[in-house]
Amino acid sequence: VFRRVAVVGLGYVGFPAAVSFALAGLKVYGVDVDPAKVEAVNSGSCPSEEPDVCRAYRVAFSRGLLEATTDYSKTALADAIVFAVPTPVKRRRPDTSILESAVAEAARHARPGTLFSIESTIPPGTTRALARVIEAASGGRLVAGSSLYLAHVPERIAPGKSLEEMRRIPRLVGGLDGESTRRALELYSLINESPVAVTAEEAELAKIAENTYRDLNIAFANFLAMTAERLGVDAWKVIRAANTHPRVNIHLPGAGVGGPCLTKDPYMLAAAGNSLPGAEIVTVARAVNDHMPAHTVEILAHALAREGIRLGEATVAVLGAAYKGGIGDTRESPSAKIVERLLGQGAAVRVHDPYTGESFGASRAPSVEDAVRGANAVVIATDHPEYKSLNWAELARLMATPIIVDGRRVLEPEQAEEAGLKYYGVGYPW
Ligand SMILES: NC(=O)c1ccc[n+]([C@@H]2O[C@H](COP(=O)([O-])OP(=O)(O)OC[C@H]3O[C@@H](n4cnc5c(N)ncnc54)[C@H](O)[C@@H]3O)[C@@H](O)[C@H]2O)c1
Repeated sequence: VFRRVAVVGLGYVGFPAAVSFALAGLKVYGVDVDPAKVEAVNSGSCPSEEPDVCRAYRVAFSRGLLEATTDYSKTALADAIVFAVPTPVKRRRPDTSILESAVAEAARHARPGTLFSIESTIPPGTTRALARVIEAASGGRLVAGSSLYLAHVPERIAPGKSLEEMRRIPRLVGGLDGESTRRALELYSLINESPVAVTAEEAELAKIAENTYRDLNIAFANFLAMTAERLGVDAWKVIRAANTHPRVNIHLPGAGVGGPCLTKDPYMLAAAGNSLPGAEIVTVARAVNDHMPAHTVEILAHALAREGIRLGEATVAVLGAAYKGGIGDTRESPSAKIVERLLGQGAAVRVHDPYTGESFGASRAPSVEDAVRGANAVVIATDHPEYKSLNWAELARLMATPIIVDGRRVLEPEQAEEAGLKYYGVGYPW
């Protein structure tokens, strides 16, 4: 029976996890190296940008169920320790050193019989390797198969919907052995509606497979989009047509892939499959997706040139800084690459985003009107829902030249032309 859990790393993943466990009635110790974050959590100030998470946090906090600390010795009080610390990829190589040191630090304090649950995304083989790290750091007190329970329980949430997805999306629970899986299932059934028992190795590979699958499919859509542009056909119509086939589901092309997961996790699979025939498939897909911001700028330069304007002398409004619609998260955002490229070419750039004040060194526009007034072009970098219902006819009148480069098919080309815009976009012939 689990009464107390420690959550190590109170970030995008760890904080909603801590809140979820607290709402399930467990006493939660949040361990983080960031003293400012710990102080905030302990003083009733929510460190998350997600309204749902903060509502749940306030309930947990008022019930005295959530306590943050920088002190790893609190892990000695826990029946289970959950790890959600960063596992970055550096120069395309996975780096698990932060996770290893966090796990070792906890192992110095944890009691025999504690369940260690790794929620961080990890390269295959890491869970089993961590068992040895724990055994060594605990001075032989915590040994897999007798006094240590260890599982990989990868997180599958998307930022912005953390709490709901943490509950709804089936949770893969991969123990190092049967008893670890059984105990981890018991813990996660407190916060997840349908946990799925697998092995640690299956969980590791499944998690990075999911994100690589999406990245590969988006890369295919982007390659198709650029090919369609060259052939003079609308890629979106092609994809809609192809997807009427019951066994085809082509993803959507766009101005690039961002966020903390899809830009990183495929390299974990690439490293694991290194030197196998076809291993390049993963890195080639990454390269295609990484190229899309530059491709978007290329379309823009062409559109401006048609009006006799050089990119370096243009004023460009970029709508959207976040890496995807409906949230303010700008990590690895394609918008950043677009803006940096435009600034590098000497363009005057204004960035608008309803969810974040980030503008990547360009000026920040408080409204879409302010962004487009007098501009030579508008680039849609993010499919925020707000952008779908704008009065484009009015906005077109505010612009010096009414060029739109739609990186997300927020507008239909016909609708844009009706509004008086000159429509360009990823996947649309130019
Ligand atoms: N963000 C996502 O949407 C998402 C989704 C699924 C999986 N993941 C994975 O979850 C893991 C965590 O990602 P995140 O986005 O929550 O990271 P994050 O950067 O938002 O949070 C990490 C937290 O860990 C803390 N920390 C760093 N080193 C520490 C240490 N040694 N001890 C204690 N705390 C430490 C940091 O201060 C920070 O608060 C990564 O492996 C990531 O790949 C992330």
